[in-house]
Amino acid sequence: MTPQIVTPRSNEPINPCSAKSKVGLLDPKGAEVFSHDSCQGIKQGIRRYDVKVTAHPQTNPRDYKMVLKTHQLIPHPDLTTIVQQHQQHPWQKPCPAHTRTAFEALRERYEDDPRPLILDSFCGTGMSTAKLAARFPDALVVGVDQSAHRLTKHRAATLDNYLLLQAEAETFWYCLAEAGLTVAAHWILYPNPWPKASQFKRRVHGHGAFPVLARLGGEVELRTNWNVFAEEFAQAAPLIGLNGTLETFTPDEHMTLFERKYRERGHALWRFRGKFCN
Ligand SMILES: C[S@@+](CC[C@H](N)C(=O)[O-])C[C@H]1O[C@@H](n2cnc3c(N)ncnc32)[C@H](O)[C@@H]1O
Repeated sequence: MTPQIVTPRSNEPINPCSAKSKVGLLDPKGAEVFSHDSCQGIKQGIRRYDVKVTAHPQTNPRDYKMVLKTHQLIPHPDLTTIVQQHQQHPWQKPCPAHTRTAFEALRERYEDDPRPLILDSFCGTGMSTAKLAARFPDALVVGVDQSAHRLTKHRAATLDNYLLLQAEAETFWYCLAEAGLTVAAHWILYPNPWPKASQFKRRVHGHGAFPVLARLGGEVELRTNWNVFAEEFAQAAPLIGLNGTLETFTPDEHMTLFERKYRERGHALWRFRGKFCN
């Protein structure tokens, strides 16, 4: 059954594009999606980069020009300096209202039923969130994406240990860290690559919020189809105390829709798996 958007108080269906206030998306099978200002999310989804994958199959892992339109063929030369600057000058940004609301929804749920937290940042439609919830039944799995449009495409699973939240990932991490919450594991699957070198600071590891991940702790798995992004992440990780390994891999089954798309197109896939040592 398709989840329906309802206001949390009235349970009346609303039009996502006219919703300017807090809306919650409650699926009938238990998974809870919390959303805010859906129209803005949709506009952002259109305005922002959304993975320009070419239609050509790509079988040679080194043939990255076929995977993604970019002039950046090697890791960004200023990577170390930028990450270190971000560590020295801790990132601060006012938390958007929707992210604060989403965080409070998580906190309430967590306080009622404390369990190990698994974070699925940039979860898109939440396919991976539901899969992780099935794989880790004792955990509370939290999928976070800023796009209400993507979240409304979630296919609800008959599980009650996951939560989908419309939130800005970076400020959400900050909220968790400030509240002293840590995670058992953090999945970051196919985040937007921001392929121009000038967009480096928008990439997960180039972002000012990257050091906040260290405060959340736990195990981290990042997946991408762009080798430069993967190499950059693997270089940046130990700078914030995240030790792990980078490898190409072939998934047995796809965890996300983007993973499925990339597999169908024959792209090589990379994953970094590591753990914070603190
Ligand atoms: C390439 S898609 C990947 C989605 C999903 N992980 C998958 O593999 O199918 C990237 C997702 O990140 C979301 N996103 C981009 N920037 C974000 C941010 N700052 N906070 C939260 N979500 C963000 C987008 O809305 C989009 O759904």
